[in-house]
Amino acid sequence: MAAKSERRILITGTSGFIGSTCIHTLAGRKDYSLVCPSSAQMDITNKHAVEDAVKQYRPDTILNFAAHRNANTAEIQRGDEEGSAWMINVVGAKNLAEVCNIYRIYLLHVSTDMVFSGKETRKGPYSESDTPENDPNNLSWYGWTKRLAEQAVISNENACVVRIGNVTKPIYDPSLDYIGKIQWLYDTGNSYPLFHDQNITLTYIPELVDSMIQLIDARMSGVYHVASDNVTTPVELAKYLMSNVRPDRNKIKEVRIDEYLSAHPNRYPKDGGLKSQNTQKKLGKKFRSWQMIVDCFIKYAT
Ligand SMILES: NC(=O)c1ccc[n+]([C@@H]2O[C@H](COP(=O)([O-])OP(=O)(O)OC[C@H]3O[C@@H](n4cnc5c(N)ncnc54)[C@H](OP(=O)(O)O)[C@@H]3O)[C@@H](O)[C@H]2O)c1
Repeated sequence: MAAKSERRILITGTSGFIGSTCIHTLAGRKDYSLVCPSSAQMDITNKHAVEDAVKQYRPDTILNFAAHRNANTAEIQRGDEEGSAWMINVVGAKNLAEVCNIYRIYLLHVSTDMVFSGKETRKGPYSESDTPENDPNNLSWYGWTKRLAEQAVISNENACVVRIGNVTKPIYDPSLDYIGKIQWLYDTGNSYPLFHDQNITLTYIPELVDSMIQLIDARMSGVYHVASDNVTTPVELAKYLMSNVRPDRNKIKEVRIDEYLSAHPNRYPKDGGLKSQNTQKKLGKKFRSWQMIVDCFIKYAT
């Protein structure tokens, strides 16, 4: 029989880039009992499947990493409310929120900095209390579907949204890791020009998972940002990285983001990034600077 203090946590999306990393730390917690259904076992776009899983596993917490996360493939679906981006991100999140509400389950939903436009009229970095973009024409389709997902989740009293962006982890996994990809493309001779005028923050997965544990344990509601304590640009970050790992060949190609955005107007927030100071205060934590995150990447993942 489960100990009285044990948390029963159902986690979606554990085969994905972020979920598969977080699961290692979460599984190490003696007071957590985890169940991680695959999308075939619990398709979140199917409310009956979610309800059946909840009846079977009786979780007190659901942690939602599941998403259609590829912004390029999502963009092709713009306006399509039957497409996978809409179905997984909007309908899936809504199903989870509704079932959690009925069964009084705490819901932690992972979201993105791309719910903000980063446009001239409303520049970032954005704080937890800033209202996300309300016009789908100012966001990527991915960003818009994640924005609507947040709305569905946050209407639950017993739920929180955790926004992240430009994610990196202390394990070599170059194709999806924000920092790892820069080094990997460079080493394989496939670097493309990076933006020198885009503001970004980074999310370091160990800080994300530690924050999630605190939020789950204390049942904290509202919106949280797990992001570096300061802002950088892709070029500044790449130069710092490469001057440490490849000091003999420190050549980064640069481009203005406006050149790219003229063809893909909403693909990236130009003046984006997440302020995380309120989250740090509420959790009693100090998140790393972007330089410290790159240092950790160099130490553990190269
Ligand atoms: N990666 C980033 O840089 C980044 C940045 C900001 C925010 N985020 C957010 O972080 C979260 C995790 O992202 P990620 O990069 O780990 O994504 P990912 O690698 O693309 O993984 C997505 C996960 O969702 C699952 N999934 C897809 N459709 C599903 C369905 N219908 N029912 C249940 N599960 C389903 C997938 O399972 P199958 O493999 O079985 O399909 C997979 O495990 C997402 O909410 C994303 O929006 C990510």
